[in-house]
Amino acid sequence: MVQQTREQWSGSRGFVLAVAGSAIGLGNIWKFPYMAGANGGGAFVLVYLLCILAIGVPIMIAEILVGRRGQSNPVAAMRAAAEESGVSPVWRLIGGMGVLAGFLILSFYSVIAGWALDYTLRGLTGALSGLGAEEAQAQFGSLLDSPGLQIFWHTLFMLICFLIVARGVRGGIEWAVGWMMPLLFLLILVLVGYGAWIGAFAEGFTFLFRPDFSQLGPESVLMALGQAFFSLSLGMGAVMAYGSYLSPQESIGRNTVVVITTDTIVALLAGLMIFPIVFSIGLEPPAGPGLLFQTLPYVFGQMVAGSFFGFLFFLLVVFAALTSAISLLEPATAYLMARRGLSRLQAAGILAVIAWILGIFSALSFNLMSGFHPLGFIDALSGKTFFDLLDGVTSNIMLPLGGLGVALFVGWRMKRAAVAEEVRLGSYFGLWYFVLRFVSPVLVVLVLLYSVGVLRG
Ligand code: PHE
Repeated sequence: MVQQTREQWSGSRGFVLAVAGSAIGLGNIWKFPYMAGANGGGAFVLVYLLCILAIGVPIMIAEILVGRRGQSNPVAAMRAAAEESGVSPVWRLIGGMGVLAGFLILSFYSVIAGWALDYTLRGLTGALSGLGAEEAQAQFGSLLDSPGLQIFWHTLFMLICFLIVARGVRGGIEWAVGWMMPLLFLLILVLVGYGAWIGAFAEGFTFLFRPDFSQLGPESVLMALGQAFFSLSLGMGAVMAYGSYLSPQESIGRNTVVVITTDTIVALLAGLMIFPIVFSIGLEPPAGPGLLFQTLPYVFGQMVAGSFFGFLFFLLVVFAALTSAISLLEPATAYLMARRGLSRLQAAGILAVIAWILGIFSALSFNLMSGFHPLGFIDALSGKTFFDLLDGVTSNIMLPLGGLGVALFVGWRMKRAAVAEEVRLGSYFGLWYFVLRFVSPVLVVLVLLYSVGVLRG
């Protein structure tokens, strides 16, 4: 059922770059370190890695497979694959929920990317040089306190994202990811080295890699699961949409392993870049979403040509965020185009505007609306702002549910012959199929049920 007329990546390299571009982003550099910090470090990292292996790998393979089989946007691809196997087209709702999740994530993702834009400018104007730890934190504080500034950068980021998606993403993504990601990687390595030198490396390393299970709260397991989905861009159709452009000759398994390994290494390196600094400047690991922005400027402050390196680093972070944001907007855009007959420009425009408006509430969660706790009546959620909730619901609930749906669909509803023919994992097929059917779904369900229990007290 492969239609040869659909556009395709320029071979495996293009595909790997695009999926890696989607996966590697703020999730690795901004979110992973603060999640690890807030959830006790090593134990969280261990659970995270287990989630990647037992859930992330099998589900990513399944998502790519459905995309390539269905040759369409996530909703239509799920329906096509369902029809081919003679099961209910209702499975497309999984694709629909994913499209919605991606769109919701985009709204706050753009706000955080806006912070990185602000820091890019600071690097450019030299504001990062010679900063002490306290000044670095005060600078970040003043950004958080300013709704106007945050909304300005959020607007700019959303606009850029819209323009790229409106023009069609493929050529741009392959090109941008191809040289920016390696450069980002290199710069992270430099910063890990520099941080190790000026910071408390041993302490940071121990925090990140020595599992102390007494620190692993019940909520942390859910966080680790959600973070695995978020970081790998799973459960919302991005990988499925990209898979639909993958040529039938390419190996799904090998590409998946490459992407996931890279994504994981970048996240761990980001942790190694940040925690030695956290300990050396006396910050607390659970500092929250501001962690990246409170630590790194200090490093740049101490470095020769620190402002320049700061500029370069945050610029690359912005690009990493852009290649992810594009993959958040693209599925919804493709869907709206197909569903309502809109042009790409119209569809991307409508979505960007709505996400932009939602994003404003996230920006305000850090200042004017920081005292507004929409679900405050639930004990476990009492201190959570609009941003916290949106982030939590999408990463920790919608993405895992989306992934669960894909695992169940591919593992139990699609015809085994169709699955085997599409995925061609050779001698690994049996293992993958088993894990996808029995292990991943059970783990996701257990973690979700467990956290419902925790929520109810
Ligand atoms: N994976 C991206 C990151 O780590 C975020 C993302 C989530 C992108 C879901 C697409 C889909 O930053």
